[in-house]
Amino acid sequence: MADISVELLGLRFRNPILTAAGPASRDGMTLLNAAAGGAGGLVAKTVSVRPADVPRPNMAALKEGRVGSRLGMLNAELWSELPLETWLEREYPIALSSGLPLIASVGYTPKDVSAIAPKLEKAGAKAIEFSTHYVGGHVEIAKALRDAVDIPIIAKLSPKVDVAEVARALEPYVDAIAAINTFGPCLRIDVESGRPMLGSSDGYGWMSGSALKPIALRCVADIAQAIRLPIIGVGGVMSGEDVIEFLMAGASAVQVCTAAILEGHTVYGKIAGQVEEWLDRHDYSSIQDVQGMALQHLKQGVSLEPPPTVDLDKCTRCGLCEKSCVYGAITVKKSENIFAIDADKCEACGMCISVCPYYALSY
Ligand SMILES: Cc1cc2nc3c(=O)[nH]c(=O)nc-3n(C[C@H](O)[C@H](O)[C@H](O)COP(=O)(O)O)c2cc1C
Repeated sequence: MADISVELLGLRFRNPILTAAGPASRDGMTLLNAAAGGAGGLVAKTVSVRPADVPRPNMAALKEGRVGSRLGMLNAELWSELPLETWLEREYPIALSSGLPLIASVGYTPKDVSAIAPKLEKAGAKAIEFSTHYVGGHVEIAKALRDAVDIPIIAKLSPKVDVAEVARALEPYVDAIAAINTFGPCLRIDVESGRPMLGSSDGYGWMSGSALKPIALRCVADIAQAIRLPIIGVGGVMSGEDVIEFLMAGASAVQVCTAAILEGHTVYGKIAGQVEEWLDRHDYSSIQDVQGMALQHLKQGVSLEPPPTVDLDKCTRCGLCEKSCVYGAITVKKSENIFAIDADKCEACGMCISVCPYYALSY
């Protein structure tokens, strides 16, 4: 069995799947449920100097047509609606009773975080993540936290900033980077009423889930190539293979928010199990074996000579590649067990490789 435990920020996590600040970490009980559901560590909802006044509605799924929700979601939530005192007296102690490392999240100004962070440290938080979302001021907040607490500090970045540049500026003041927060502003409209699906002042919200993953992966890779601090990948982790992608892009662990909203608190353990199973199947003994593996290829690039290589034992003749081949180069006939690529028509675009669910095509 592969070892999926992680040593990060001087803390031991039983697996690299942490909760993320959001509705599924909104109080002690949800964090305790996440621990029971298999999370490797707990990141709590962001707290600030006053409770948030959250618009309603504040969440809307992203769907393909009318059904399905695995594309992700938009939200117009803010930080925690609970007062800081409630977190200190009730919610953090409940979360800590899980025995998992607890990371508290705090926002938003240097003055706010200086006032709050020592209380979070005293309450038992093992590290502090600060969220700037789109407010900026990263270095000032990091410095304020450094002066205020002795526990490790994690800066959580938004995708709209130049993450490599901000990470470089933060490197002397923080212990890790979490990337990324939600992307936006974005819009969804309820076609039955013509109204926005979210109740924010402009109807806009912030995107998370699968649709965010390619942006998050690029940000993690950017940061991994810019600095030496550990990176926690966050954005669209729904499965074990998503985690492997983040590890290969240079992350040391991941956080999961939207998947837990859409699938419930057992999703953390499910994803952790899939990571272990993937590593075993590929003969790796630990997650460190794959960490940063993609970074060398980002520098060297890749190229595909037509046609791609086909493993006919893996191919089920499902025909997905034929449907998405805009050059008409692929012919699949399931009833006659036929799979054929016309090398003269193949333009080596790579689409078939990426749509194949069975990894039967490669370059
Ligand atoms: C409804 C909702 C509320 C969130 N609240 C917070 C928050 O309080 N603080 C924070 O730093 N990030 C917050 N996030 C961002 C998530 O922690 C995470 O960075 C983002 O959703 C991308 O991860 P995901 O694709 O797994 O959801 C929130 C996300 C959602 C969907």
